[in-house]
Amino acid sequence: MLKKLMICILVVFATKAQAQNYDEAEVPVFTLPHILKMANGQPVNTVKTWEQNRRPEILHLFEDNIYGAMPKTYDHIAYKITAEDKNAMNGKAHLKIVTITVYNSHTSVDIHVTLFTPNNGKPANPAFLFINNRDNNNTDPTRKIKSDFWPAEMVIDSGYAIATFNVNDAAPDNKDNYTNGVLKLYPNQLTADNGMKAIGCWAWAASRVMDYFKTDSSIDFAKVSIVGHSRGGKAALWAGAEDQRFAMIFANCSGNTGAALARRQFGETLKVINSHYPYWFCNNYKKYIDDVNKLPVDQHMLIALLAPRPVYTTNATKDLWADPSGSYLSVYYAQKAYELYGINPDLKANPPPPNSPIIHKTIGYHIREGIHDLTSYDWSKFIRFASYQYAHSITNK
Ligand code: GCU
Repeated sequence: MLKKLMICILVVFATKAQAQNYDEAEVPVFTLPHILKMANGQPVNTVKTWEQNRRPEILHLFEDNIYGAMPKTYDHIAYKITAEDKNAMNGKAHLKIVTITVYNSHTSVDIHVTLFTPNNGKPANPAFLFINNRDNNNTDPTRKIKSDFWPAEMVIDSGYAIATFNVNDAAPDNKDNYTNGVLKLYPNQLTADNGMKAIGCWAWAASRVMDYFKTDSSIDFAKVSIVGHSRGGKAALWAGAEDQRFAMIFANCSGNTGAALARRQFGETLKVINSHYPYWFCNNYKKYIDDVNKLPVDQHMLIALLAPRPVYTTNATKDLWADPSGSYLSVYYAQKAYELYGINPDLKANPPPPNSPIIHKTIGYHIREGIHDLTSYDWSKFIRFASYQYAHSITNK
């Protein structure tokens, strides 16, 4: 009897400790670190000081404290087209399956890419590169299986190329063998407290796909967008921050350590994400699990690193775990970096109502009616947003 009672008490305590806050009234008062103030207190008023000083400072803070370092060199990279169909999707697309092999530290890793380009007579097309964090049935190259998660036909019909790779090629998405991928190339990362982990590896792999795109003349290299959902959305934001070759960034329901502000502690918290997914972020991140206010950054600064490039983030009404309000606030506060470039994203302090996308601004956003997911509704807005930006001559350097 006594034993039963003890177990009951323990369960109650454990549930309390794990309990997530879904009550806006419980969000603590917090102060966000300034985007436009150097760590030494100097204000940042020009694009020059932003690009030469403050932006690198913020990027390093994210590397050292959250996502880990991002190795930029390797011994050799090779690309091999292993399958091709010039009449895929009933003739409307050209399919290439590409293996990217990267060599370093006397070993190598393969990233498999599925790429469809539209057969529309244009020599080069803008593209969406999708970080697939679900199984490969969602991105079936034969198109026998069609998934709303990756509506490739819709993207092709809109005049865009669409490509994808699976996160598991870069770092298997589980704590027991996430090292069995890109990290084999960079063994030093494993022992460093700011060493890259799974999400860093996924972002790293997205950049290797960019390396390949540079060699494929069917891709308009200045117009490649990176897209990710949820954990893939976190990686897409990080890839966009590290690699400025991505012209636009789309993060769908990216939640904690994606677009959502950590200091709000609403829905998933830093403590929970680090205990459930200790292999996603660097060791240093764990230092902040009991005091998020000590973090020298918050996620609005990750969005700021994307400036002046267009960025689009989303939420879903029922996805409180990803803190829709905190995700919107983060893009709202990131406007400061865009303003330095003379861009006024003109976001209001309150998010738009559900299913009312903000398309005609440099920072786009929607909150979709429904659950945590990536759907053709979301993709259709990504396409509209990208087309609007390109029509207004926003291309990458
Ligand atoms: C979990 C995790 C989230 C993540 C999500 C997903 O819910 O807690 O941080 O975004 O999985 O990737 O679907």
